[in-house]
Formats: sequence, C-alpha cells, structure tokens
Amino acid sequence: MSLTLIYPQPDFPGAQERLDGVLAHALAGREVTVLRRAEKLDGLAGKRLLFALPLGEWGCNGECLRILTRLRREPNLLEGCTAGLIADGASPLYTKSAAAELTLAANLAGCAFLGRPLVEGTGSLANFRIQAKNLGCGLIEAYDAAARELAQRLEGEVRAPLTRPNLLVLHASSHHTSNTMALWNKVRERLGDGVDCREIGLRNGTLSDCSGCPYTMCLHFGERGGCFYGGVMQEEVYPAVRSADALVMLCPNYNDALSANLTAFINRLTALFRQTRFYDKALFAIVVSGYSGGDIVARQLIAALNMNKSFYLPGRFALLETANDPGEALALPGMEGRLDAFAAHIQSTLCTP
Ligand SMILES: Cc1cc2nc3c(=O)[nH]c(=O)nc-3n(C[C@H](O)[C@H](O)[C@H](O)COP(=O)(O)O)c2cc1C
Repeated sequence: MSLTLIYPQPDFPGAQERLDGVLAHALAGREVTVLRRAEKLDGLAGKRLLFALPLGEWGCNGECLRILTRLRREPNLLEGCTAGLIADGASPLYTKSAAAELTLAANLAGCAFLGRPLVEGTGSLANFRIQAKNLGCGLIEAYDAAARELAQRLEGEVRAPLTRPNLLVLHASSHHTSNTMALWNKVRERLGDGVDCREIGLRNGTLSDCSGCPYTMCLHFGERGGCFYGGVMQEEVYPAVRSADALVMLCPNYNDALSANLTAFINRLTALFRQTRFYDKALFAIVVSGYSGGDIVARQLIAALNMNKSFYLPGRFALLETANDPGEALALPGMEGRLDAFAAHIQSTLCTP
C-alpha cells in the first residue's frame, strides 16, 4: 500500500537536513505522496501515514502546531488511517513528548498507530547505541535501518478479524465507588457474549514495582515466563496478557498520571516484553479525571504501552471523561451514547475485517 508522508516544514534552516537523508533511505523505491502544510491534510481517510517531525534544538515546529490544531478541531480528519512517526531533534529532549502529543491528537481524529510506531533521532543519536552495536554499524546507519523497518511495517500492516475476542481488563479501583469501574461495567454489558472479558484487580499490596534488575537477569526470568518478584504478575497477569487479544486499562487520573499500581504493572511487563512483542494486541482505556488532565494520562498510556511496549493503538483508543464524586461519571450528559459508541468501537476494531 502506498504511503503518505506528512512532513511539516521546519522553522529553522538546517533543521531537516538529517531527516531528509533518513527519509530518502526509508522511502527509497516506495510510492509516496508528500504533504508539508496543515491545510493540505484533506481526503486522507483510510491512508497509511508517516509523520516526520523535524523538531530542531528546542523541540518546536510551527507547522507541526498548525497540524495539531487541525487534528483537534476536526475529529474525523484521519478516519481509518494507520500511522507511524519519525521524530528528529537536536537534543535528547522533546522528541518523545512532541511525538506523543501528536499521536494522541491524531488518534482522537480516528488514526490508528502501529505498535512501536516511533523512531526517534535525538541530537547525538546516542539512543541508537544498542541497535548499532547489535547490527554492527554506526549510529546513523542504525537510525536509517529503524526508519526503513518502520516504513516496511506500515506498508505491510494487516489485522486479522477475530470471531470471539479475548479482553484483559486491568484496574486498581474499589468496585463500589469507582467511576472508571462503573463506566467499564456498562461497556462490558454492551459488549455482550461475543467478547470474553477477564478482569484483574491490582490493588495495593498485590503487586511490587519493578526492581530494575540487570538486563541479563530480567531476560533470564522473562525467558522462563516470569520475573524476579514472581507473585500475581507471574501467576496471573503474564499468562493473561499472553492470551489476550486486547488490553483495557481502567485509569483514574492520580496527580495527572496513572496510579502507582497500574504504573507498576507496566514496569513489570518489561520481563515479558524481553521475549515477546505485543504488535497483535490492541490497547483500549477508560480514563476519568476529577477536574482536568485526562489527555496527560492518555499520553502516558500511549508512550508506555504503544510506543515502548509495542501494543497496537486503535483509532480513538480511549474514553476520556471528567467526573469526581462516586456515581458522577454515569450521570454525565450524553454518557449513554458515548458508552454505546465506545463498546461498538471495541467490537468493530477487533471483529471487522
Ligand atoms: C490520589 C488522587 C489523586 C488525584 N489527582 C487528580 C488530578 O491530578 N487531577 C484530577 O483531575 N483529578 C484527580 N483526582 C480525582 C480522580 O481522578 C477522580 O476522583 C476520578 O473520578 C477517580 O476515578 P475512580 O473513581 O475510578 O477512582 C485524584 C484522586 C486521587 C484519589
């Protein structure tokens, strides 16, 4: 399938030279349409998109900001698209945050993202040290290879429809009072019998955070299907993740972040990730904030589970709501319609060819 390269013009001269070279390597021999301005993003429904962000020293790009504005203003602009990104900067900062911000906006405009959709080129390319060592090449060659592999995956991405998908639902909330649980219960009712749901509660005391074992030790335990700490993660959660077609994260906003127990789950997933990739597993989430900031939690999920841990991100992966008191979320205006739409969306993402 042909690719559409969305390559916002940089504000500073020279900010795109390295990226020009990487893209020439990644896209050589491929059929590519290039769009450089926000006002050109029309008629893209169903396309394969490669975003390439020249971010320079300060992580800013005015055209990128205009694209972000258009995506937020037009919630169907990228309906049915699938995308990957290359973010190129001149420092070790901003590449990941700029990419995650754009990914969330594009996702809410209907765009899906491959698992591990981001290739980052930091200023010194020190982030390619391990890949370069493994490939036996220089840093820029490792960058080129990663960008080319991304373009290849984007072109070839195919998702097989499932007849009876298997959902793993993770939460760390009290069943009686939780807004996120209340919304999930209504989504589950709407999914009906055609979808198998397994819920696991990771409340305080059930899960220790990752202890940051040395790489070889993590690999050693991971290859045996476990982790140094064992416990619920090894006995219940790893096998459930392995057999799931999709992960549903139920996330109250705690200080503009995921709660500690859900963060511990993601950190502990590293041992399983050492020996397997999750490209074929979709990520969904319900995020409830008392006041504001649901986008920050959604971005954290994108960065940790889609960009780092390789879960596939379907378009509009998260239901984002604002409610504080017990019972408040279910009583929000228009909630029934949004629950209908979210449940139908999970079902069609997993079951429709
Ligand atoms: C420890 C803690 C931190 C919180 N931090 C925030 C916050 O930073 N921003 C916000 O909007 N709401 C915050 N809240 C409110 C919750 O997000 C809100 O009550 C939500 O409905 C909780 O969902 P739950 O009932 O599923 O736990 C916080 C709540 C707790 C208990």
